[in-house]
Amino acid sequence: MPGVATAEHPADLLARPYWYRHLPSGQDVHRLDNGLYAVTGNAAVQEALAHPEIVAEHPLKASARAFGPNVLDADGPNHRAFRALLAPALSAGRVAEYKRTLMPGLVDALVESLAGIETDDFYDSFAHKIPYGIVCTILGIDPSLEDRFHKLTRPLARLLDYPTEETEQTHANVTELLRLIEEQRAATTVGEQSLLETIERTRDRKGISLTDSEVRSTALLFFLAGTETSSAFITSLVYCMGRGIFGLGELADEDVRDAFVEEVLRLYPPVQTIVRFAVEDVEIQGVRVPRHSAVAASIAGANRDPRVFEHPDRFQPGRSLKGSIPFAVGSHACPGALLAKTEFSLLVEKLVERCSDIVITRDRLGVESQSFAHPTGFSVEFKNKQEKRM
Ligand code: HEM
Repeated sequence: MPGVATAEHPADLLARPYWYRHLPSGQDVHRLDNGLYAVTGNAAVQEALAHPEIVAEHPLKASARAFGPNVLDADGPNHRAFRALLAPALSAGRVAEYKRTLMPGLVDALVESLAGIETDDFYDSFAHKIPYGIVCTILGIDPSLEDRFHKLTRPLARLLDYPTEETEQTHANVTELLRLIEEQRAATTVGEQSLLETIERTRDRKGISLTDSEVRSTALLFFLAGTETSSAFITSLVYCMGRGIFGLGELADEDVRDAFVEEVLRLYPPVQTIVRFAVEDVEIQGVRVPRHSAVAASIAGANRDPRVFEHPDRFQPGRSLKGSIPFAVGSHACPGALLAKTEFSLLVEKLVERCSDIVITRDRLGVESQSFAHPTGFSVEFKNKQEKRM
């Protein structure tokens, strides 16, 4: 049937929502016609992501070509050194500080702009505001450049897809972003605590010597990883709040709120698929994967594995989330998870305080399934709880 992916047309699968659903059931590792190994079950995905012979580095990866050496595309000592450079900006202590000092202003500004309006453009016009504000500030980038960074960065998510969309435009955007980052790095206004400044100070002390261009690439990758994932997820979060799965009032309780965020993360992980490469012949859940094969591990599939989550498609906040891996596992597991969850919980808290209800008023049930996944084609109304006090 035209337009419907089938197991006979595997090349189409990865561009569709929940592509793993179209693969034969009863199997966790599938060899597709194009030689790619698709890994879908929860245990198999975790095994693939933690396997020492299944690596991230590959010279032909579009992201590696576009960004140069970077944390996402490195393995072993180089990878650990990149992580060490980024770690201070994402520690629990720093996240607590951001929660006190940086996040409230950004969250309040967004919530204030939403209260009392209906929009059909939440993802493009609103969802990026908090993530870009946070990541610009952490890096030490002038927040007034946020819109410029946003326009240039969003199309780059396609470089992380499989199949990749790599165009002259994405390369031009990378060049312009690297130029802007260099401009910011050279500016005397960059604060002592900023990540750009920290990388600059420590780059020769963490077991890696970064050239100037590698410093810029590291900053850019951090930027992309921290913004577009969160913008997509905030869209899913608001969508789920608007679907009235349960009353907003219940989300005033911190435990309920955190369970809600975790369940949305399980059902709508923005990073749906992670591509890796087997450097040796390996076995995943007993299935042989020959060396040099590309391996696509489905986070979305792992998070809806019925052997781990009873009624996996049901929204059930408070269920056991052991096995839910929206931030991946293994050496590349997201270092920004705590920051992200803190940001999301605060946003839900403030929306509940400010809005009497959040309602999806139009829903085409669309899903953007590429990096980074989120619902599309919906309108949402944020009903005002009170007129803003003067
Ligand atoms: C909903 C929010 C987020 C989700 C679901 C998410 C998910 C992920 C996942 C699945 C990976 C692993 C990718 C791979 O192995 O190829 C990753 C890596 C990464 N994330 Fe996040 N992320 C989020 C937010 C953030 C934030 C807020 C930051 C920082 C401000 C961040 C920084 C990074 C970095 C630097 C990496 C690369 C780690 C490495 O390769 O070792 N992420 N993220």
